Amino acid sequence: VITAVSGFVLLTVTVVLGQYGWGVTYTSTQVCAFKGATAEIRCTFRYPSTINGRNTRVVKKFWFITHKNNEPVDLKTDPEYSGRVQYQCENNDCTLRITDLRESDSAEYKFRFITNDPRGKYSGSPGVTLTVTGPQLQVHVRRSTVNSYSNWKELTCHNNCQLPDQSSYIWYRNGHKLSSDEQYLHLNTFDSADSFHCAVKGYEIFPSPTVYAPKLPSVSVSPSAEIVEGSSVTLTCSSDANPAASYTWYKEDVINPLIYQNQHFFFSILPSDSGKYYCTADNDLGQKRSESRTIDVKYAPKLPSVSVSPSAEIVEGSSVNLTCSSDANPAANYTWYKEDVINPLSYQNQHVFSSILPSDSGKYYCTADNDLGQNKSESRTIDVKYAPKLPSVSVSPSAEIVEDSSVTLTCSSDANPAAKYTWYKDNKVLATRQKNVYHFISIKLENSGNYSCKSENQYGQKNSTSLSIDVQYAPKLPSVSVSPSAEIVEGSSVTLTCSSDANPAAKYTWYKDNKVLSTGQKDVYHFISIKLENSGNYSCKSENQYGQKNSTSLSIDVQWKSKIIIMNIIRLTLVVLILIPLLVLSLLTRRKKRILLKTEPNEPVEMTEVYSHPD
Ligand SMILES: *[C@@H]1O[C@H](CO)[C@@H](O)[C@H](O)[C@H]1NC(C)=O
Ligand SMILES: *[C@@H]1O[C@H](CO)[C@@H](O)[C@H](O)[C@H]1NC(C)=O
Ligand SMILES: *[C@@H]1O[C@H](CO)[C@@H](O)[C@H](O)[C@H]1NC(C)=O
Ligand SMILES: *[C@@H]1O[C@H](CO)[C@@H](O)[C@H](O)[C@H]1NC(C)=O
Ligand SMILES: *[C@@H]1O[C@H](CO)[C@@H](O)[C@H](O)[C@H]1NC(C)=O
Ligand SMILES: *[C@@H]1O[C@H](CO)[C@@H](O)[C@H](O)[C@H]1NC(C)=O
Ligand SMILES: *[C@@H]1O[C@H](CO)[C@@H](O)[C@H](O)[C@H]1NC(C)=O
Repeated sequence: VITAVSGFVLLTVTVVLGQYGWGVTYTSTQVCAFKGATAEIRCTFRYPSTINGRNTRVVKKFWFITHKNNEPVDLKTDPEYSGRVQYQCENNDCTLRITDLRESDSAEYKFRFITNDPRGKYSGSPGVTLTVTGPQLQVHVRRSTVNSYSNWKELTCHNNCQLPDQSSYIWYRNGHKLSSDEQYLHLNTFDSADSFHCAVKGYEIFPSPTVYAPKLPSVSVSPSAEIVEGSSVTLTCSSDANPAASYTWYKEDVINPLIYQNQHFFFSILPSDSGKYYCTADNDLGQKRSESRTIDVKYAPKLPSVSVSPSAEIVEGSSVNLTCSSDANPAANYTWYKEDVINPLSYQNQHVFSSILPSDSGKYYCTADNDLGQNKSESRTIDVKYAPKLPSVSVSPSAEIVEDSSVTLTCSSDANPAAKYTWYKDNKVLATRQKNVYHFISIKLENSGNYSCKSENQYGQKNSTSLSIDVQYAPKLPSVSVSPSAEIVEGSSVTLTCSSDANPAAKYTWYKDNKVLSTGQKDVYHFISIKLENSGNYSCKSENQYGQKNSTSLSIDVQWKSKIIIMNIIRLTLVVLILIPLLVLSLLTRRKKRILLKTEPNEPVEMTEVYSHPD
């Protein structure tokens, strides 16, 4: 039991108080002492040796902590201190001694003296602060820093108030007393589960706190709810340890520590910050690693990417997959759209055409959705290639086609890529070209015929049906011909023909000596029995909607029939006249020969004129 222990000096600054020769000097201003011990507070005081010519004499000296009626109360009269206070004063030196200290004795103590002069009173202020406690022990740890193989540690039992030199110590490991009674405890080996504390003998009820290596650190994440990209997140590591632990944060698969603090702070967390985190807690007695904590940063879908399979050319009838993918957490839901089509095509990341059609060509895009938002891909153009569809030939102008006009034939065929065209006339190749038109600047008769076209690309070819082109034209110069072409005799049958090429067929007008004879469809003018008065100059006019042409005229000269009879009589007479001498000669030579003379009768014919026209 400590009995002879005085107060322990904390601060040894000597303070001189007073003025004009008055003063109190305390040897220390802070004193700390254990409960139950004895504290001593000492001072010296001074005063002028004379006041107003009278020798000064001290009549009262005491210590106080409180006032009553504005007068300091002598500690000796305080019942709380009764029997525990002594003043030991000698000359200008006075010591306050308090025994059996209590915690309630903690206070500021001041010394006061009163002289024989009524004004000669003096208190030393500020006074001395006494602190009564149990021993305030701390175990201080020092450890080997040489290398990781030497693992010694040195523990020191340390007190805030200086302990008396003769104090002896008690060390405890895991609550069990060790044999050492030194202030220092040297450990060559150390089990991280061990804990230590110390006490001062006689004051076992005031042990030091226990020191131990860090316990398993716990990790907390704030906010504790879902972590969304861009939010601020704090990871906090805490571990029970004495001395207090220092902390280090790590991310798995990252070699270097993130930060040497108990908190790791993300101002604006990124998807790439997702991962497993752990911390370590260290003190001089050891280290402990926390369990790993998974941080899963949620985020809205990133820009979706579109892939088309096959990536090469897409041909009608083939199978095509559109695939949408977007980085998102949680995983996105996908929707496929076609531009200009209001309703979605499908609600999957793949949109599959099992047999794609030309009409499927167009721009496609997809959207990716999750709880945190939506994102839309760029549009992707799908261009479905296909062989030409059945071509058709059209003509412009679509009305009748007239010689020398400009005419355009167009072959219409749907194809991707655009077709190459071959033109046929009457099944013979006319031209091969890129364009789907065939142009006549000035169409001719010989261009009439059946036209067709073939449309062709690398995926196939198709023939059109044929279109008939019939070039129309005004009559060509007509010519009049007569049949029979020999001499025309009165009463014979004669046909005049007007020959004129025209499309459509011409209408004919017959003229005799520039006067209209007949108008009609026919190109012939027929006399069943021609008369003398039918002689004249005949011409015809050939005419259709595109024009008309006059023929040159043909002169018809009808011969008189009686003139022919006379001519025949004359011929006969001449013959007879020639034959008689021959006959006589013959009779003379061959008497018995009969002379036979025969002539053919020339019967008259009734001549009638027949018109072939309706009027
Ligand atoms: C879509 O993703 C891109 C980049 O991934 C991002 O910049 C953009 O803000 C996102 N759009 C929406 C609407 O979330
Ligand atoms: C398209 O996707 C389907 C189903 O995923 C698959 O069976 C098919 O082989 C794919 N086709 C192509 C051309 O990638
Ligand atoms: C995604 O699709 C699933 C299944 O169809 C559905 O349960 C979920 O609600 C959808 N999520 C979103 C964000 O649309
Ligand atoms: C198209 O018509 C041309 C001419 O008649 C012929 O030579 C060719 O073989 C035909 N092609 C097809 C694909 O029918
Ligand atoms: C044109 O076609 C029509 C009917 O297909 C046929 O009667 C005519 O003889 C053809 N013309 C030519 C010049 O082949
Ligand atoms: C054709 O001849 C007739 C009769 O001589 C005449 O009246 C007409 O004007 C002529 N027409 C032409 C186009 O020369
Ligand atoms: C017929 O034409 C010829 C010459 O072209 C002419 O000499 C003759 O007089 C014409 N005849 C009549 C009846 O006009």
